[in-house]
Amino acid sequence: MKFTVAIDGPAAAGKGTISRAVAERFGFAHLDTGALYRAVGVKGGDPVEAANTLAPADLARDDLRSLEAGQAASKVAVIPEVRAALLEFQRKFAAQEGGAVLDGRDIGTVICPEAEVKLFVTASAEVRAHRRWLEVGGDEAKVLAEVRERDERDMNRADAPLKPAPDAVLIDTSEMSIDEAVARACAEITARLPA
Ligand code: CDP
Repeated sequence: MKFTVAIDGPAAAGKGTISRAVAERFGFAHLDTGALYRAVGVKGGDPVEAANTLAPADLARDDLRSLEAGQAASKVAVIPEVRAALLEFQRKFAAQEGGAVLDGRDIGTVICPEAEVKLFVTASAEVRAHRRWLEVGGDEAKVLAEVRERDERDMNRADAPLKPAPDAVLIDTSEMSIDEAVARACAEITARLPA
């Protein structure tokens, strides 16, 4: 069975947590597409070359979740050639047998417009920054500024900007627990699974 779940949304909205949980629940493979852009961003050198030669070791780096890697990711993510270099890998992953969950910014709009389930997960910038701060520590005001700057860049770029697909289901997690958000996502998936 091929079955694709596309989960998009702004920085630190909870896409990763929800994606991992639903992948485990339904036995789907999961791809954190942000990690691809983070790996290209931190690799240095020419970003297009980095995207074309991305290797498993680049994705295994332990500094990919840092604020700096997030910023570097959103800077290389505006380059159309970088996005093009990563497209085929993501589409193949999505089309694998057994089902796949991909989380990112443009999964429902560009990578998998035919996905069976499209979710757009969001929350207020303050709530998202607080969650990211719990993860990375440091100065919470700086984390909020970083989240805002990245959202601004992601939403306003010309190529594959962050926006909900017209048929995406919006899930605002500002006032939801993780369990509630996961339950909501699972209900959307269950409703669309083939009988
Ligand atoms: O975990 P968080 O939501 O903070 O970020 P991420 O999903 O790891 O994505 C890091 C950055 O990569 C984003 O700010 C985007 O600029 C870029 N990205 C993208 O352009 N397209 C994707 N499908 C995934 C990430």
